[in-house]
Amino acid sequence: MTKITLTRPDDWHLHLRDGVMLKAVLPETTRDFDRALIMPNLVPPVVSAKDAALYKRRILDALPSGTFFEPKMTLYLTESTNADDLSSAYKEGLITALKLYPAGATTNSASGVTNFDAIRPVLEKMAEIGCPLCVHGEVTDPSVDIFDREAVFIERVLDPIRQKTPGLKVVMEHITTKEGVEYVKSVDAGLAATITTHHLFINRNHILAGGIRPHYYCLPVAKRESHRLALREAATGADPRFFLGTDSAPHFDHLKEAACGCAGCFTATNTMPLLAQVFDEEGALDKLEGFTSLNGAAFYGLAPNTGTLVLEKTNQPVKFPEALATPEGQVTIFDPAQPIFWRVFQS
Ligand code: DOR
Ligand code: ZN
Repeated sequence: MTKITLTRPDDWHLHLRDGVMLKAVLPETTRDFDRALIMPNLVPPVVSAKDAALYKRRILDALPSGTFFEPKMTLYLTESTNADDLSSAYKEGLITALKLYPAGATTNSASGVTNFDAIRPVLEKMAEIGCPLCVHGEVTDPSVDIFDREAVFIERVLDPIRQKTPGLKVVMEHITTKEGVEYVKSVDAGLAATITTHHLFINRNHILAGGIRPHYYCLPVAKRESHRLALREAATGADPRFFLGTDSAPHFDHLKEAACGCAGCFTATNTMPLLAQVFDEEGALDKLEGFTSLNGAAFYGLAPNTGTLVLEKTNQPVKFPEALATPEGQVTIFDPAQPIFWRVFQS
């Protein structure tokens, strides 16, 4: 039986929500992960240092007793973000990054940015203090096809921002295209990208062929197969600028299985076995630890976690639970649509 031991992983892009959902999903992440970058797209969003401190408290209060977990907080960047507030929150270690949502790009992004010139002073301040900018990289222009929105964002928005703001550290979140991979590779320094678990498994056929499958719908939407293959190559390759951000995004099933279903795949429960399967298939198990536990920490200037996680290869396909029950309804767990021969042996 093959076993591999990894430094305990970090999830550099995670939605924990609040209240009942937070309580239900948090143990699914803390089982295998010691740290996660917590997305701020609550309703209302986490926009100030005070909001971040209160949300962090609610996360720590929701932890199962005896569990170690470090939530790394983010602020939601708006056109009224206060540069002094973010600067002091960053310097005192309360926040790790700011998250840029173009207004209307995804779930709870209504307070995001429409006029990118309005955030210039904030971006300058971030570059000055070294605070990273995490970017949801999609344009919202209705004339741009949804499958092209990431590539167009790089050209129209991200590259101009980076050119105008030397020294700004940027993470392109949940890249879904070969243009995203190529853009990261084309740059000398200060740019990295997270890749989700689900985008390594699904392409757009999974969502649309043979019936519409809402549990595979997320944003950025999965693209054609050639893009999925480019992501697999980047994730399992040697370039440390690619690292794991699951974008695990729980929604109650009744809100996904609806005439207008929410975007998001919930992968917190089975991410590590799924990733072991991908890296095994690519003959790159030796790169898994970099992707899940080392590269992201290095980008954010942090030491790796100290504990370990052991994964085991199995003879029979592993059966994962199909859904997570909560007092307000169930949340379907991501189905990788193929047999998985890995499980967590010891967390
Ligand atoms: O699929 C997604 N779900 N993409 C996002 O950008 C947001 C997330 C959510 O919050 O549900
Ligand atoms: Zn997200």
